[in-house]
Amino acid sequence: MKPLTNKHILLGVSGSISAYKAPDIIRRLQDLGAKVQVILTQGGAKFITEHALQSISQNQVHSNLWDKKAELAMGHIQLAKWADLILIAPTSANTLANIASGKACDLLSSVILASAAPLIIAPAMNQQMFKSNAVSGNLKTIASRNITIISPDDGAQACGDIGPGRLADANNIAAIVAQQFHTTELTGKNILITLGASVEAIDPVRYISNHSSGKMGMALVNNCIELGASVTCIYANIQTELNQRASNIQALSAKKMHKAVMENISKQDIFISCAAVADFSPKNIAKDKIKKNADDLKLILKPNPDILQDVCKLPKKPLTIGFAAETKNPLENAKLKLKNKGCDAIILNDVSGADFGLNVDENEVVFLSQNYQQKIAKTSKQKIAKKILEIFIRKFL
Ligand code: CTP
Repeated sequence: MKPLTNKHILLGVSGSISAYKAPDIIRRLQDLGAKVQVILTQGGAKFITEHALQSISQNQVHSNLWDKKAELAMGHIQLAKWADLILIAPTSANTLANIASGKACDLLSSVILASAAPLIIAPAMNQQMFKSNAVSGNLKTIASRNITIISPDDGAQACGDIGPGRLADANNIAAIVAQQFHTTELTGKNILITLGASVEAIDPVRYISNHSSGKMGMALVNNCIELGASVTCIYANIQTELNQRASNIQALSAKKMHKAVMENISKQDIFISCAAVADFSPKNIAKDKIKKNADDLKLILKPNPDILQDVCKLPKKPLTIGFAAETKNPLENAKLKLKNKGCDAIILNDVSGADFGLNVDENEVVFLSQNYQQKIAKTSKQKIAKKILEIFIRKFL
C-alpha cells in the first residue's frame, strides 16, 4: 500500500550540511506515492544544487520570492495551495527562527504563512546550536502552534562534534509524513474510470452523441482520489472540470475509448465504467461535409465494441462496476446487464424522468450485485458517488 498516493508534499530545504540528504527524503516520499515539489532557501543552496533536487523531484525547484515570472501568477500562493503538507528537512536554526517569529522574508517562510497545510519540521544543526537557549525557545514556540517536530538524532556530526543535531533518518521522516494522512481501503489502489458521452463522427462537422455530462463519473473520480486511490480517468465529451490529481486521457469515440481502456487495464484493481458509450457508430465517416441535396439520407451504423464486457472477459479482470441507464423495466434490465456483462456490481440509473440521471446535478440510483440490492435516495452526484464507494468497499474489499 502507498499511503501517500495523490498527496502533494512541499519540501523546504534550508541551510544545513544535511541538505545533501534531501534527495533521499524525496525518494522515500515518492516510494510512498507522493508528488514532491521543493523550495530551496539561499542557505540550502550552499549545500545541495537545484539541479539535483530538480532531477529527483521531477519538478522545477522554487527558490526566489521575487521571481517576476512566477509571481505574476502569484507563485507563492499557488505553492501554498498546492501543498497537502509542508515538510522542512533539514530545518536550519535560521529557518527555525523565521518560523517562530512568523517572518515572511523569503519564499519558504512566506509560503508557510500563506498555507493552511500542516507543517512538519526536522531540525538539523550543530549540537551546541541545538542546545542553545534561543533554539530551545523557538522550538517551544513552534510546538505550541501544533507544528510537528521530528527530533534530530544524536551522534557524530559533520563538524566533528558529538551530540543531538543530526537530521533524522529519511525513512523515519517519510513514515511520520505518511502518519499525518488517514488511510482507507482504497489507499494506493489503481482505479480506472470512464466517463462522459462518446462522440461518433458522421462527417467532419457532425456526430452522434448523447446527453451524458460526465458529472457522475467525475464525482467518482473525485471521491476515489479523496480516498487515496491512484485514478486513471478516460473521458469522452464532458461538461465538468477534470481533476488534475488523476491521470487524464481523452478518448472521444467508443473505439478510441476501448483502445485506451485496454492499454491501461492490466495494472488496475478496479474498473468503473461510467461512460455513456454509443452502441453503434457510422460504418463510414464521410471525408467531406455531407450535402443536403438528396431527399433521404441513409446512415449505416455498425456495432461498437462493448468495453465493460471485454474487460470482464479478461483472464485477470479487475473488480468491475458498470452503470445501467434505463427508461423501461429498470430493475429487470439492470439485473440482466449485471449477468450478461459479467461485472461485480451495477449501478441502476433510471433516466426516464428529467429530474435525475443524465446532464443534471442530482441522481437517484440502485446499487446491485449478485445477491445484494440497495437504493440510494435522490441527492447530489458527489454524495451518490461517496455512497456507491462505501457500499462497494463493504461488499468487495
Ligand atoms: N458500455 C460499454 N461499452 C459499450 C456500451 C456500454 O462499456 N459499447 C458500458 C457502460 O459504460 C455501462 C454499461 O456498459 O457501464 C451499460 O451501458 P448502457 O448504455 O446502460 O447499456 P448497453 O450495454 O449499451 O445496453 P442497452 O443500450 O441495450 O441498454
